[in-house]
Amino acid sequence: MKTTALTHCHSILDLRNRARCALPSAIFDFIDGAAETEITARRNIAAFDDLKLIPRSLVDVGKINTTTRILGQEIEWPVFCAPTGCTRLVHPNGELAVARAAAKAGTLYSLSTMSTCSIERVAGASGGPKMFQLYVLKDRDLSRELIERARRSGYRALCVTVDAPVGGKCERDYRSGLFGPAHKWPLGTVIGFARHPFWGLNRLGKAGLFAANFEDSNGDPMPLKQLGEQLGQVLDPSVTWKDIREIADLWGGPFAIKGIMSPDDARRAADAGATAIIVSNHGGLQLDGVAAAIEALPRIVSAVGDRLEVILDSGIRRGVHVLKALASGAKACSIGRPYLYGLSAGGEAGVAKALGLLRAELILAMQLSGCTDLESIDPTLIGQLR
Ligand code: FNR
Repeated sequence: MKTTALTHCHSILDLRNRARCALPSAIFDFIDGAAETEITARRNIAAFDDLKLIPRSLVDVGKINTTTRILGQEIEWPVFCAPTGCTRLVHPNGELAVARAAAKAGTLYSLSTMSTCSIERVAGASGGPKMFQLYVLKDRDLSRELIERARRSGYRALCVTVDAPVGGKCERDYRSGLFGPAHKWPLGTVIGFARHPFWGLNRLGKAGLFAANFEDSNGDPMPLKQLGEQLGQVLDPSVTWKDIREIADLWGGPFAIKGIMSPDDARRAADAGATAIIVSNHGGLQLDGVAAAIEALPRIVSAVGDRLEVILDSGIRRGVHVLKALASGAKACSIGRPYLYGLSAGGEAGVAKALGLLRAELILAMQLSGCTDLESIDPTLIGQLR
């Protein structure tokens, strides 16, 4: 996709439309889809509409300061890139492109355990602030090894995702057959790939698709397909708070727990020594029917807002959504699909576009609501209109 096409994108929704054209249908469904009826994924976005802003007038908004600090790292504005696995499915530069774009946009990048570029390669590609996201694996030695590799490579924060003890039921992937053998793909999937021959060409041979942090029995990077087939045997469904406390101690640095949706779990996270919790339902990819993350946020902030940093993830598509999340007590927000749409539409430039759009919209929303810095965004901005 030419970067000129990006100039015609004026919202994350425009980037999503570009992504739909740029990708084979099965790959678009992989990033756009969610679990079962996808009601949670839709609700994550729609629930922002229920919050009505009451702006302040006659404030000098000539200068806006959006800098903040999360997980021990300075960022220029309060939105960062959440971990997404298999990113090279979307674009050949995958995680490298996202990490570079995030660094240039002055924000943090989170690398997934399930990444298609290794912990070390991403560290080499971007000197920006980074967090490593861990799925606790049945092979606990491998989990510990991943943590040590992240530490050695200069990742300053660790995040453990706790809402995926097993994989959710993403029916669009089942229908497309993406993670099954190619000879069983339905016709629609085959046609989708045939229409995008460059997608395949860019991923053949040595530069093919690997779960870069895993090795096969020969000590080579594990083909992504193999990890897809073995995922049920890789993730550990028996993880409990005891394991989380051990991991926090082992890491000993800024530590986030991602996937918290209840005030009780938020209190347990604080007791376990977390620096931050990420209020998230995994973008609706796990349990379908869960409340929207923005709906869960206020009660969690009341419970633990004075004990740790509360980050809102899932459903952010607009700068004004970020404003509403911050007014509801979040310290920052993280995004998944918005940057994946950008990556699909235009590689690193597309990710930069997605981040740039959200940042410009946030600044505009702050100016129009009379907020000059993040401290001035408070609950009085959200009113009960009669
Ligand atoms: C994800 N997400 C995710 N989360 C995580 O902790 N580890 C991972 O490997 C992945 N992988 C992943 C792949 C894809 C394709 C998507 C869309 C999402 C969830 C992600 O970090 C984040 O929580 C959601 O994407 C946030 O919702 P939005 O911003 O996509 O609405």
